[in-house]
Amino acid sequence: MRTLHVETASSSYPVFIGEGIRKQASELLSSLNRPLTSILLITDEEVDRLYGEEMFRILEEKWSVKKVTVPSGEQAKSLEVYTRLQTEAISFHMDRSSCIIAFGGGVVGDLAGFVAATFMRGIDFIQMPTTLLAHDSAVGGKVAVNHPMGKNLIGAFYQPKAVLYDTELLHTLPQKELRSGMAEVIKHAFIYDQAFLEELLSIQALDDINSEQLNEMIYKGISIKSSVVNQDEKEEGIRAFLNFGHTLGHAVEAEYGYGQITHGDAVALGMQFALYVSEQAEGCQMDRELFTEWFKKLGYPHRIKQEVSTSVLVNRMMNDKKTRGGIIQFIVLKQIGQVADHAFSKDELENWLNKWRMEETA
Ligand SMILES: NC(=O)c1ccc[n+]([C@@H]2O[C@H](COP(=O)([O-])OP(=O)(O)OC[C@H]3O[C@@H](n4cnc5c(N)ncnc54)[C@H](O)[C@@H]3O)[C@@H](O)[C@H]2O)c1
Ligand SMILES: [Zn+2]
Repeated sequence: MRTLHVETASSSYPVFIGEGIRKQASELLSSLNRPLTSILLITDEEVDRLYGEEMFRILEEKWSVKKVTVPSGEQAKSLEVYTRLQTEAISFHMDRSSCIIAFGGGVVGDLAGFVAATFMRGIDFIQMPTTLLAHDSAVGGKVAVNHPMGKNLIGAFYQPKAVLYDTELLHTLPQKELRSGMAEVIKHAFIYDQAFLEELLSIQALDDINSEQLNEMIYKGISIKSSVVNQDEKEEGIRAFLNFGHTLGHAVEAEYGYGQITHGDAVALGMQFALYVSEQAEGCQMDRELFTEWFKKLGYPHRIKQEVSTSVLVNRMMNDKKTRGGIIQFIVLKQIGQVADHAFSKDELENWLNKWRMEETA
């Protein structure tokens, strides 16, 4: 087992990473020295089917536990499910010393975290991630649910008391979810760690990833994310760099419709565009063709569906939370492993996106 410590302006907490560590959950949770009068274990239907009962039994040996299951997928990040979970917490007589455990991917983490942040004005919250993508979402304290008018619009910054990452759970993850999570690993490497990116480039197929590599990806990805969050918990400055690939990625996700493309596939498209912009607008030196081929080999999309127009995507980007006064802050690379932000007007961005799309269909 490896342990990392996340330090933010508001708190500090351990991240335990290792194969099979769910079996040590009792000791690890006890080591936090929290009152833990009772536990609400929140999970989704799929994770419940695979590991719910086992996890419940492990915790139940020591604490009073209630397990609640939400539907799998983005649909669970709704105000309706949020309200149902609050009702469960109240009827289970949870108090201010109780704790919520998020046992699942980014959806369960964001949802359960927001329940914890608001139940009785905030109770303890533990992340037990079960997807690769959750190496990103479980660290940093952004928790939220969606509004019908937009994703993650209702939320908070609320740090967990610990993250218990049992990497053995990832063995059952469908390949498309593994690829989705790996896009965030690749993002972390692009923005902060050239040597790590080179290691990742040796992976030529998702099926070839072994446990050791998976553990390393999670460790490195979390190290990078936490070092950013340490410096800028509330996204007032450099935390925005983590949006590399996300400006277009979010627009693609919304335009395709949630569930039609994974977050990681959309971000992979966004990163390929961001690499193009980095090269053209920032003079970043790289072998872009090599990256394009690599993304393709790993199974990521490399072009946006023809029927989605550039202007629709640019309008989406202009509505992004990060746009101010018609100028969009777009994250680019100065060089691999070194990131910066670049302000673009709507017309400039539209121009780049058109050019890149012409190139990809050439
Ligand atoms: N808070 C943040 O900083 C942050 C960062 C990135 C993403 N997110 C959020 O994360 C969410 C996406 O997270 P995700 O990609 O983990 O999706 P997810 O939680 O929906 O999980 C993906 C799918 O995999 C299944 N699954 C989970 N663990 C499994 C396992 N071990 N074996 C088999 N199947 C398993 C789930 O049931 C689900 O169907 C989005 O809502 C996004 O907004 C948040
Ligand atoms: Zn992301």
